[in-house]
Amino acid sequence: MNMMIAFQLKQHVFFLVILVTGSMMLPALATSAKIQCIDRERQALLKDDLGDVIEGVTERETLFSSWESDQDCCKWRGIRCDNETNHVTALDFRRLTDSEWWHVFDGKISSSLLELQHLNYLDLSQIDLNETTKFPEFVVHMSRLKHLSGVLFEGAIPQQLGNLSELQHLDLGGSYYVYTTSLDWLYTLHSLEYLDLSGVNLSQVTNWLPALAKVPSLRELHLSVCHLPEIILSSSRPTMMNFSSLAILDLSRNYLSPHSIYSWIFNLSSSISYVDLSSNSLQGPIPDAFRNIPSLSYLDMSSNEIEGGIPRSLGNLSFLETLNLAGNKLYGELPEVMKNLFQHTENKLKDLDISRNRLNGSIPEAIGNLFNLNVLDLSHNQLSGTLPESIGLLSKLEVLYLGSNHLEGTISEVHLFNLSMLRELELSFNSFQVKISSGFVPPFQLESILLANCTQGPQFPEWLRTQHNFSYIDISAAEISDTIPAWFWDLSSRLTFLNFSYNQIYDVLPNLTSKFSASSSVLDLSSNNLEGTLPLLPPSIWSLNLSKNRFSGSLESLCNVGKLDSLDVSDNLLTGKFPDCFRHIGSYFTTLSLENNNLSGSIFPASSRCRLLSMNLRNNSFDGEFRQSFRSCRDLQVIDLGENKLSGSIPAWIGDNWSELIVLSLRSNELYGEIPSSICRMAHVQILDLSLNKINGTIPKCLNNLTAMAQERNLRATITGSYGMSTIGGRELDWNHDESAIIMWKGVESEYKRILGLVKLIDLSSNKLTGEIPNEITSLVGLVSLNLSRNFITGSIPPQIGRLHLLDFLDLSRNKLSGVIPRSLAQLTYIGVLDFSYNNLSGRIPSSTQLQSFNVSAYTGNSGLCGPPVTENCLEDKVILNPEVTDNEEDTFITPGFYISLWLGFVFGFLGMCGSLLLNKSWRHKIFKVDSVHHWLY
Ligand SMILES: *[C@@H]1O[C@H](CO)[C@@H](O)[C@H](O)[C@H]1NC(C)=O
Ligand SMILES: *[C@@H]1O[C@H](CO)[C@@H](O)[C@H](O)[C@H]1NC(C)=O
Ligand SMILES: *[C@@H]1O[C@H](CO)[C@@H](O)[C@H](O)[C@H]1NC(C)=O
Ligand SMILES: *[C@@H]1O[C@H](CO)[C@@H](O)[C@H](O)[C@H]1NC(C)=O
Ligand SMILES: *[C@@H]1O[C@H](CO)[C@@H](O)[C@H](O)[C@H]1NC(C)=O
Ligand SMILES: *[C@@H]1O[C@H](CO)[C@@H](O)[C@H](O)[C@H]1NC(C)=O
Repeated sequence: MNMMIAFQLKQHVFFLVILVTGSMMLPALATSAKIQCIDRERQALLKDDLGDVIEGVTERETLFSSWESDQDCCKWRGIRCDNETNHVTALDFRRLTDSEWWHVFDGKISSSLLELQHLNYLDLSQIDLNETTKFPEFVVHMSRLKHLSGVLFEGAIPQQLGNLSELQHLDLGGSYYVYTTSLDWLYTLHSLEYLDLSGVNLSQVTNWLPALAKVPSLRELHLSVCHLPEIILSSSRPTMMNFSSLAILDLSRNYLSPHSIYSWIFNLSSSISYVDLSSNSLQGPIPDAFRNIPSLSYLDMSSNEIEGGIPRSLGNLSFLETLNLAGNKLYGELPEVMKNLFQHTENKLKDLDISRNRLNGSIPEAIGNLFNLNVLDLSHNQLSGTLPESIGLLSKLEVLYLGSNHLEGTISEVHLFNLSMLRELELSFNSFQVKISSGFVPPFQLESILLANCTQGPQFPEWLRTQHNFSYIDISAAEISDTIPAWFWDLSSRLTFLNFSYNQIYDVLPNLTSKFSASSSVLDLSSNNLEGTLPLLPPSIWSLNLSKNRFSGSLESLCNVGKLDSLDVSDNLLTGKFPDCFRHIGSYFTTLSLENNNLSGSIFPASSRCRLLSMNLRNNSFDGEFRQSFRSCRDLQVIDLGENKLSGSIPAWIGDNWSELIVLSLRSNELYGEIPSSICRMAHVQILDLSLNKINGTIPKCLNNLTAMAQERNLRATITGSYGMSTIGGRELDWNHDESAIIMWKGVESEYKRILGLVKLIDLSSNKLTGEIPNEITSLVGLVSLNLSRNFITGSIPPQIGRLHLLDFLDLSRNKLSGVIPRSLAQLTYIGVLDFSYNNLSGRIPSSTQLQSFNVSAYTGNSGLCGPPVTENCLEDKVILNPEVTDNEEDTFITPGFYISLWLGFVFGFLGMCGSLLLNKSWRHKIFKVDSVHHWLY
């Protein structure tokens, strides 16, 4: 389908764009007796500027070679002639290549094609008519066209397409920024059988459905991503829509409501066989009315919000071959689901995807009866129990996805010995043990081996030796403590994705220069015990993670890698400077993680086309000043240069050029000078850590411009960069990278990853700041932590500080603050750590459940403070309280657990707001770890 390929074309990271200019020299024309091609028509083809694309393209041999070498244009690739009249009848650029991906040429199509008067088939795929180009007008004069497809253009669809009255096949899908305000031009296309308008904005065409109904010959209709308005059916004449020929209907990605969709499709012709309703707004249960469409063989309702069980009516659809209900809210026991779906022996179901739902129960033994199944995807549910051996009876099974359930037990050759067609096996993130004996010769050759978190070790799995076809292999967290055997690297020439992370693999890696396929590849060997220098890698590596190993030496070996997008070699023993080649690589990086090594020298200059989203160089020995060239990194979201030896001042351009920044940590360097006021223009910044430097001057008054901190709400809990997409066996896979930051939190350094987005903090401690705390700081009501300690700040604490009511941590100690502690502080109900010590504060400590609960040390070094907990009461007190009683009451109420639960409540509350389901053990552990420092307070 044109549209599918075109969408991949635009979104896919791996696609190849070849932009070529120049002109082509054709060899002198020679005459030949056998030439069929009509000379005038050949001239017309050559007059076309398409010829231009040939010059200089390396693919020239394969793509346009026939155009150069043969005088007979009827034999050219992409051209068809009538076998009797010899007229050119078809121009089909899709046929220029057998490749799955388009090679897009920046060509021009000229009206000389109008001279091909017998042309009835025009496919302009492969030709990018330049993004600013409108629809090629001359096409609407090619009145004999029966087939038109592959036109990539922008803007309005010309209504004159209605002149092409012989059209049977019209495919305008796959372009972007294409719209139309009316579909009335369709009325004259009496023979139209195939219409694809996917991606065309139809939001203005409120009568789209009645308009389409006037094309009764329509057999196939694709309206994916059309922003379709809801259907308004006239209730009096609901069956006026005549779609008697319609067999294939694609309404995916339109966010249509159940009312719109169901009211239409259940009244359609009974011959419809293919319905794609994925990514709409379907809610509620699956309607029984599907039994009214008995001819259905393909039904995709994935990525909606459908609830409930799977009705027997779907099992009654005896022609159903493909059923995709993935990504809904379906629940129920799997055995029951299976019983409903497979109630008849004549069942034809081949492709069943119910992944990403809430199904539970175990996989029934009877699964072995479904021998027609080619694809079974039950991943991301709540299934439990073991995998029945009967799965081994599914001899036609090609794809088996069971990952991310609660399945357990051993997977051995008894499950696998008969699965001779298996291509993709995914069992990740269950509690499976994979025990395949080394003598077993599987009947399959897998393309995807996805066994993350399946115990396989301690030896490297020997059975892999039988596999020679795989592109994707993930045996991370498999408890392997072994070397990677030399034979492994020569098994498959198709390798594009390898993840062996979280094992105890040791040894030095060999020269990997020729070990991956030529397409963009991913290598993740993080969290192992690998040592030696970084390996030599093929230029095709696109994402590399070798973090948390013991690699030593320099970054020099990475210079062979051409287009590294994401590099993580953090937590190793690397030394030396940035190699010169990083200047070049720098224009590709989006993420660069080099933290916790011993790298030194100055930071490489950024490319003028800097694409960096995140750069973490923390805890190295980098020195020198800020590079001007980093001004061009305008997309940066996270930058952590903490714990280095950077000197100079914070550049004034920082806030104007890095306006997307969410995390800025320059902690523990040798930076001096003042904080530039442009820093206030970082509207997204949530973590601002400039502590442990030599920064002087005053705190900028404009702090209230830090919009993200001035909001209590959080947009997200996790700061995730999405760095493109790829497909594994037709399934989309996001390459995400959860940003992390090391934050000094209550005296303990902690890494925040999953909840980084929840933390909003300012840490300017241990600098040489003077002047007063600006009142404006009190509008940053989202702040959870504020540390201004160890400076020379004077004046009084802003009276309104209590507005920062989410504060959990407030440290103003070791400054020159004077005056009283504002009463508003009593409003800080979440405050867990407070330190006002070593200032010149005076007067009564305001009474609140919190302020009195802190240890005296929070207030020491202020000679003028009085009242609990420093002194029993103040001299000027007239009313004598009984402090003992109050204290006792508080002690029974305020326990460390109280704070922990408050903090958790706070975090969970925020998570609720984010709508994220992030109940991940690792960060919960982190919060508890962090909160355990509370204990020293009591
Ligand atoms: C011409 O092509 C048509 C269809 O491609 C075919 O049916 C017919 O036999 C061919 N005629 C000759 C003379 O080759
Ligand atoms: C589109 O064409 C214009 C003029 O022909 C040219 O300047 C521009 O660079 C082209 N754009 C692309 C993306 O090729
Ligand atoms: C992987 O497995 C281990 C133990 O088998 C478990 O503790 C861990 O949570 C699993 N990881 C994930 C991401 O499921
Ligand atoms: C690494 O392997 C490649 C290709 O096999 C070879 O050309 C290159 O010389 C090797 N490099 C070293 C340092 O062995
Ligand atoms: C800050 O320090 C720099 C040099 O370290 C000095 O030139 C400047 O005058 C200082 N500014 C203030 C306000 O003290
Ligand atoms: C702060 O925001 C105000 C209003 O948006 C603007 O006028 C002012 O210039 C900003 N200050 C800084 C330092 O950017």
